[in-house]
Amino acid sequence: MLTEAGYADPAINYYLEKKYMGHIENADQVSEKVGSCGDIMKVYLKVDESKIIEDVRYEITGCAGAISAAMAAVELVKGKTLDNALKINDGDIFKVLENIPEKKHHCIQLAVKTMHLGIEELLSGKN
Ligand code: FES
Repeated sequence: MLTEAGYADPAINYYLEKKYMGHIENADQVSEKVGSCGDIMKVYLKVDESKIIEDVRYEITGCAGAISAAMAAVELVKGKTLDNALKINDGDIFKVLENIPEKKHHCIQLAVKTMHLGIEELLSGKN
């Protein structure tokens, strides 16, 4: 069904595995964003003393596109500095997913914006 809808295999696998779904006890940052569709994402960030991202989890009320995009976003930022993680964009996620339906591209934006919000709030001490 997802294939017919326009999801490529990597996107489907991220959606089915949901490897980074959930929360982190003692997270350094928890931030939440509501998408234009009304869906909600919450991101949990854990960083080490040099501000390298050790772990990330998302809680999501959203579609398959949102879930696959968020799971891909975690793999792109893990092990990166906060500054470098801020550089990931929608195109980077799309490349990893290979394809999702065009009407779901805003779900990628929600995953990226939520990640960026978490990093920015962590950097500004608003946690
Ligand atoms: Fe809301 Fe995909 S439709 S996040």
